[in-house]
Amino acid sequence: MEFRAIKGTHDILPEESFKWRHLENIIHQICAQYGYQEIRTPIFEQSKLFSRSVGKDSDIVTKEMYSWEDRGNTFLTLRPELTASVVRAFNQHNLSNLSPIQRFYYMGPLFRRERPQKGRQRQFHQFGIETFGSKLPEQDAEIIVLAWQILSQLGLDKKIDLQLNSIGTDVCRSAYREALKKFLKPYLNQLSEISKRRFKTNPLRILDTKNEKELSILENAPLINNFYTEEDREHFNEIKTYLDALNIPFNVNFRLVRGLDYYTKTVFEITSSELGSQDAILGGGRYDSLVEHLGGKPTPGIGFAAGIERILLLLKKKNSKIPKPFPDIYFICLEKKGIPASLIIAKRLRLKGFKIVSDTLRRSMKAQMRDANKIGAHFVLILGASELQNKVITLKNLKNGEQKKIKQDDVVDFFETLISKFV
Ligand code: HAM
Repeated sequence: MEFRAIKGTHDILPEESFKWRHLENIIHQICAQYGYQEIRTPIFEQSKLFSRSVGKDSDIVTKEMYSWEDRGNTFLTLRPELTASVVRAFNQHNLSNLSPIQRFYYMGPLFRRERPQKGRQRQFHQFGIETFGSKLPEQDAEIIVLAWQILSQLGLDKKIDLQLNSIGTDVCRSAYREALKKFLKPYLNQLSEISKRRFKTNPLRILDTKNEKELSILENAPLINNFYTEEDREHFNEIKTYLDALNIPFNVNFRLVRGLDYYTKTVFEITSSELGSQDAILGGGRYDSLVEHLGGKPTPGIGFAAGIERILLLLKKKNSKIPKPFPDIYFICLEKKGIPASLIIAKRLRLKGFKIVSDTLRRSMKAQMRDANKIGAHFVLILGASELQNKVITLKNLKNGEQKKIKQDDVVDFFETLISKFV
């Protein structure tokens, strides 16, 4: 085959797309319950939007962005994440003027040039939320509860772990950074090249290592909680109280740092051990300086994003039965001269909201019946020579085998009455 999807990208075929729709419907429904409104931003942005927010030394910016130079010397990038884009839109449209608190959610594709493997693509999809305006811990709790509710509604709450940390405000982080560097300095020669680099650029990211040797060195490293300011500690304690009140289980992990530079105070991740090495379903945190850093008025913010493919992988592992949509009626027309009547009846039924599949291949009765069964239709309507002559239509209920003739003029009423019995 000459043309294939690019490495790390996937087609979402009908066998899968109905599952996406199911998940998306739950997301829309729950976000509405919490008063979140959908925001859609462009697929590409100025490259510097990401280098300035995600961080110029982050993995995303140093090696994973799809970027190009456009005409007029502008550098553009396919969005590798959405927080920066949403903050850009928030600033550009002065959304803070509308209300002191703004709650958004989004869904869509993102692009990172990572090494593809199970659960890791180069084009992947996230749904996420971002809220602007509240610096208070109940806002942190609200978004964690929202994430938890979505995963619970999917039946995944027993398969996941919530890791929670606070990386404190700037004062805390800069003191901790120094302490960590002081601790790591004697071991510098034993660190990997990437950690040596991070030692200079962003030592906290060394805590993210999966390297066994580095992990054993880090066992005795200082922990960030010893550097919290009073404000950091109080904020973190309040979140924990609220999560406890809501029975949301969490593990405090003082080594949890995230790969994006904009975080302050709260950071969290939801992981599942059933996903293998790419175990993060969702990650997020507070970014109280980002809005200002990208040119807006000082406004606190917090959000998270979840990988849709990873949630679907977990659902598959759990063998979740997502109901596949099927047509109510399969329309079999066996006579060419009956086609206009079949088109009219099908149209009238569709206008009443019924889902109807009509054969357009003029196949035999047997082939069409086989098709109707295969796609799970509830009823079959048959319009053959004798039905045409008598202005009737044969109705077959594929679920119980019942069959009867109905006047063509009464078909729509018949189905409406049938439905009203069940509603
Ligand atoms: P992130 O941790 O980079 O955070 O990504 C969030 C989630 O996206 C991950 O937990 C994972 O489920 C999914 N994900 C990331 N990369 C890939 C990939 N290559 N293939 C498949 N899934 C992937 C952010 O993007 C932040 N913007 C989250 C945030 C929102 N923080 C505050 N607000």
